[in-house]
Amino acid sequence: MPTIDDCKIINLPKISNRKGNITPVEGFHTVPFDIARVYYLYDVPGGSTRGGHAHKELKQLLISVMGAFDNILDDGHKRKTVRLDRAYYGLYVPRMIWRELENFSSGGICLVLASLPYDESDYHRDYDEFLESIKKQA
Ligand code: TYD
Repeated sequence: MPTIDDCKIINLPKISNRKGNITPVEGFHTVPFDIARVYYLYDVPGGSTRGGHAHKELKQLLISVMGAFDNILDDGHKRKTVRLDRAYYGLYVPRMIWRELENFSSGGICLVLASLPYDESDYHRDYDEFLESIKKQA
């Protein structure tokens, strides 16, 4: 079962010149999965918490392409908080990690690269059910 120690910051490439920066991300190469879906969180009101779920199979890379936010990561045993505040840091989140995203800076944008298409049945949205599932798979 994945743990919060498997949630790692990936240093993404940064191509800089006087005209600005580019950060490319390639599936299987920069991130350890094929990218099936891209979505982004934006216009997040101050004080809002996003997430509040775990995924049964989905793997993700979260990037703060603008501003900053905190990721609270929980594997059912331990918790840690990782703040993303650079467009060239990606946070890899494997399957079966409960996450909450909060403390978005004003105008903050979270880009998510996901290993699978959207599927509501892939979510654990109830924390106790998430813990039960971890026990069953141990
Ligand atoms: P959710 O994943 O719970 O958002 P967050 O983790 O950012 O709080 O999704 C919120 C709503 O958006 C939910 O009704 C499902 C829908 N949704 C899609 O239809 N497709 C998607 O790719 C995503 C990520 C969400």
